[in-house]
Amino acid sequence: MSKLQITGGNSLFGELEVQGSKNAVLPIMAAALLHKGITVIQNVPCISDVLVTIEILKALGASVTFDGYQMVIDASVLTSCKIPAEYVTQIRSSVIFLGALLARCKEVYTCQPGGCSIGKRPINWHLEAFRKLGAEIMEDEENLYAKATNLYASEIHFACSSVGATENILLAATAARGVTVIHQAAREPEVMELCWFLQTMGAEITGIGSPCLTVKGGCKLKDTVYCVSSDRIVAGTYLCACVATGGKVILRKAPVAFMQSTLRTLALTGAEITTYEDNICCMQRQHPLPIAELCTQVYPGFPTDMQSLMLAVLCMAEGTSSIYERIFEGRFAIVEQLQKMGADIEVLNNNRKVVIRGNGALTGAAVKASDLRAGAALAVAALAAKGESTIEQYHYIARGYVAIAKDLKQLGGNICLID
Ligand code: EPU
Repeated sequence: MSKLQITGGNSLFGELEVQGSKNAVLPIMAAALLHKGITVIQNVPCISDVLVTIEILKALGASVTFDGYQMVIDASVLTSCKIPAEYVTQIRSSVIFLGALLARCKEVYTCQPGGCSIGKRPINWHLEAFRKLGAEIMEDEENLYAKATNLYASEIHFACSSVGATENILLAATAARGVTVIHQAAREPEVMELCWFLQTMGAEITGIGSPCLTVKGGCKLKDTVYCVSSDRIVAGTYLCACVATGGKVILRKAPVAFMQSTLRTLALTGAEITTYEDNICCMQRQHPLPIAELCTQVYPGFPTDMQSLMLAVLCMAEGTSSIYERIFEGRFAIVEQLQKMGADIEVLNNNRKVVIRGNGALTGAAVKASDLRAGAALAVAALAAKGESTIEQYHYIARGYVAIAKDLKQLGGNICLID
């Protein structure tokens, strides 16, 4: 099993180019199935979630080529509407194939998505919205079958903002008769990107970036070339590594417009941040300052995917900080690992809040990644800590980072990946 080995203490200096966005590309790959033809996607990151999604596309009958940057999906002919269980349990985003296959094949067989280490993550809002579009859904504890002889446009009112449910309904609505209106739609950049991609494909969508999206169903779709934007969480990860260790890092090809809350939050720690077009320069001259209250929120608020990373940064502050997690109910598994590194963190409010009493230091330890972002956050903590750390369960990190060890080494970190 691969693991990261890190000797902390080096400040990070240098420049990096940011990889393509995981959460933008995964639903776009599913959306390629809407069109009986060719879709070319560029700036695709070579991460394990993308590789698993390629296997799903192939299992459904699409042909896929991928050279590490550009992916060509030929979905002219599909041979199956069954998403193999082995992939559904590996990646949550496989749920977006429900909307794509309902639109394209009018039926889909899948299984219940597996549990995840950041919370329960039910899909009840997805299924309720499909039913409103006229789909029939049968499910038991293991399996899920959805069928829609005809999809009809409808007014969907989500109870709360959900990225995945919004994406799923966007896809199904492209094939529904009439104009579907999605109220309380998620506004995350990845939802916007899916809309832009669908527009390039020929779909008619309005309200992009707002909480009310309208989709005109039945538009003729066409072959498309689309370049996905860079990953705002990967960019945020490397900025956190800079802020935790001190130093100066310049990011190229950064999605600056999508990162405003992250940049504002990092500035609260004393980091000097300047942006120019798609470049971010971040300099940290001292220990990070504590943040009295940080709260995760839906976009454009501070993203839940940056929460573990900021937790690692705030362990290196001198003083007390607190973080409130409002999106997922189980996203503090990292605390136990950071405690092994000497962090003084208390979990409160039924696992929703942490108080971090930082003393400006961490010590290297043998720790384990419990999910993707927690794994990256442990790498940030280990780079700032005194001494050697190992981070096991690297496969979680490989889900979303093309080459975290190579990138951080390029910035001067003492880090390597051991197979
Ligand atoms: N929720 C429900 N019922 C539903 C759908 C969602 O109760 O039917 C709840 C969830 O349990 C959660 C909240 O609503 O408490 C928000 O979940 P959302 O549906 O927005 O999340 P998601 O679509 O499952 C995506 C990203 C996550 C990211 C969240 C929030 C992808 C593949 N995943 O998940 O990314 O944290 O949005 O921004 O796009 C990651 O990249 O590490 C990651 C976990």
